[in-house]
Amino acid sequence: TGHIPVSVGVTLRTTDKVVWANEFEPIELTCLIESISTNNPRIEWKKIKNGAPSYVYFQNKIAGDLEHRAKLREPANILIFNATRSDTAEYRCEVAAIDDQRDFDEILISLAVRVKPVVPQCSVPESVTVGTSTELQCLENEGFPAPQYHWFHNNEELPQDPKNSLKFINSSYIINPDTGSLKFRRARKEDAGEYYCQAKNDVGNAQCSPQMMEVYDVDILGIFLKCFGGVVAFFGLTISICNFLKLGCFHKKGHNENK
Ligand SMILES: *[C@@H]1O[C@H](CO)[C@@H](O)[C@H](O)[C@H]1NC(C)=O
Ligand SMILES: *[C@@H]1O[C@H](CO)[C@@H](O)[C@H](O)[C@H]1NC(C)=O
Repeated sequence: TGHIPVSVGVTLRTTDKVVWANEFEPIELTCLIESISTNNPRIEWKKIKNGAPSYVYFQNKIAGDLEHRAKLREPANILIFNATRSDTAEYRCEVAAIDDQRDFDEILISLAVRVKPVVPQCSVPESVTVGTSTELQCLENEGFPAPQYHWFHNNEELPQDPKNSLKFINSSYIINPDTGSLKFRRARKEDAGEYYCQAKNDVGNAQCSPQMMEVYDVDILGIFLKCFGGVVAFFGLTISICNFLKLGCFHKKGHNENK
C-alpha cells in the first residue's frame, strides 16, 4: 500500500547547472520547485559577477541588470529575452517557504553567453627575402569562447601541418591556431601570394581582407656588381677629374700644394 510523500521542506532543482546561450538569443534559467507546502513562497534571483551579488528578481519584480529584459516564468524560472555578453555570470535562485519545516533552498546556475568573432586584425609583411624567417599574425578579441584561427593562401586553407599535404609539403610554416601566428622558418618563392586569416568559434566566424606577401630572391651578383661598380666608378671619376684639371692628384703632391 502506497502512502502520500510528506514534504519536509522546500527543495529546488534545475535542468542545467551550466548553461550556454548565444548572444542576441533568448535563454531560460530553470529553477524548479520539487516540493513545497507554503502557498506563497518568496522567490529571489541574484546575479553574481566577480564575486559581487546583485538582485535581478526582487519583491516580485525583475530588477537590476535584467530590468525590462527578462520575465519570471512558473514556477521560478527566469527567461532572458535577448542575452548579451554582459549576462555571462552566475545566477542564484533562492526560495523561502515560511510554512515549511525546511524553509529555504537555493540553487546556483552558471550562464555563459557565446559571442561571435568580429573581423580580426591581420598583419602580413609586404615583402620577404627567400630563405629568411617571417611571421604573420592574426588577432580577434571579442569572440567567446576564444576563437581558433585559420589561415588562407590564395583562397586555399593552409593545413595545420604542411607535412600532411601534398601541395604544401615543402613549405616550412607552423600555425598556432590558438594565438593566430603563422610562422615561416624559411620563406620560399612559392609562399608568396595573398593571405587572410579567419577567426572561428561555435557561434560564427569572421575574416580579414587578403593581403599580398611578395617573396624576393637575394640577388648576390646584383649586389656585388652594384658595390663593385660603385667603387670603380668613383675611382674612374676621380682619375678623370684629376686628368682633366691636370692636377696629378696621385703623384705630384708638391705641385698640387702650390695651387
Ligand atoms: C537583441 O539585441 C540586439 C542589440 O541590442 C539587437 O540588435 C537585436 O535586434 C535584438 N534581438 C532581438 C531578437 O530582439
Ligand atoms: C617538394 O620538393 C621535392 C624535392 O625537392 C620535389 O620533388 C617536389 O616536386 C616538391 N613538391 C612540391 C609540391 O613543390
